[in-house]
Amino acid sequence: MDFSALLLTLFTGTIFLYFLRCLVSQRRRGSPKLPLPPGTMGWPYVGETFQLYSQDPNVFFASKQKRYGSVFKTHVLGCPCVMISSPEAAKFVLVTKSHLFKPTFPASKERMLGKQAIFFHQGDYHSKLRKLVLRAFMPEAIRDMVPDIESIAQDSLRNWDGTMINTYQEMKTYTFNVALLSIFGKDEVLYREDLKRCYYILEKGYNSMPVNLPGTLFHKAMKARKELSQILARILSERRENRSSHNDLLGSFMGDKEELSDEQIADNIIGVIFAARDTTASVMTWILKYLADNPNVLEAVTD
Ligand code: HEM
Repeated sequence: MDFSALLLTLFTGTIFLYFLRCLVSQRRRGSPKLPLPPGTMGWPYVGETFQLYSQDPNVFFASKQKRYGSVFKTHVLGCPCVMISSPEAAKFVLVTKSHLFKPTFPASKERMLGKQAIFFHQGDYHSKLRKLVLRAFMPEAIRDMVPDIESIAQDSLRNWDGTMINTYQEMKTYTFNVALLSIFGKDEVLYREDLKRCYYILEKGYNSMPVNLPGTLFHKAMKARKELSQILARILSERRENRSSHNDLLGSFMGDKEELSDEQIADNIIGVIFAARDTTASVMTWILKYLADNPNVLEAVTD
């Protein structure tokens, strides 16, 4: 199992959602100085961005964690921030003190995912998107997809038979296939390869240094992002021409009374894949590990 990839997922999942910029910048002059976690802020403006990107980001996080513990301060991509990686800290941010935090992302992430994606909004637009996403994942909406999801699982099992696999990577492939099915329904087979190709380039550049020059991972990712929008625009126009109704996420977005624009739909489709994929793959990897470690539990859930 690729634990460094899991570690990176844990970190990236929390850092970019919970850049505690506000918390750090809200310390007003004259008010008592609030204690900040241990860590270093690096150079003015660039902070520790170069350290993060000059080596494997996993090494950056692992060495910081070893030195300062599971909560430390740093400064990357132009943002003073606090990184967290413990369940207790995650609960504090997401549950017990969630009212103190506002999700913000570095501008480069916003550009890559799309400014209209749910994560970057509050208020009515945010609530509307939340409802549309939830609607597509209610039991009645996904009931008919279960046999197709099962067949994706069975295909995976056949492919793994007799080979050594990287569980987390395989779970990512599995969740991506299920995500495509939940988003595009049966239409996904027509676009699967193009969507995969572009999405994988986008993913590779997502945590790269945000330098938009030809040849950089970031530049390639931005190009792939543009191509993804074009593919989605094609799918949308084909669905509109066929006037067909669909029970999938795209159908939910397209069925909204006050129509969403193509750009809003594309940004949110890509956003949901991002939100759903590594998180679910990570949880599934841990589930497999604990089931393997506890045969009595495995027996109880498979009986
Ligand atoms: C075990 C798997 C998952 C984990 C651990 C996870 C975790 C999270 C977390 C921590 C947030 C931020 C919540 C907040 O800001 O209060 C979030 C938001 C979100 N997640 Fe997930 N997620 C998972 C699976 C999924 C799946 C499968 C989907 C797609 C259907 C999804 C779609 C979203 C969306 C759309 C948001 C933004 C919600 C909003 O801004 O209101 N997530 N997720």
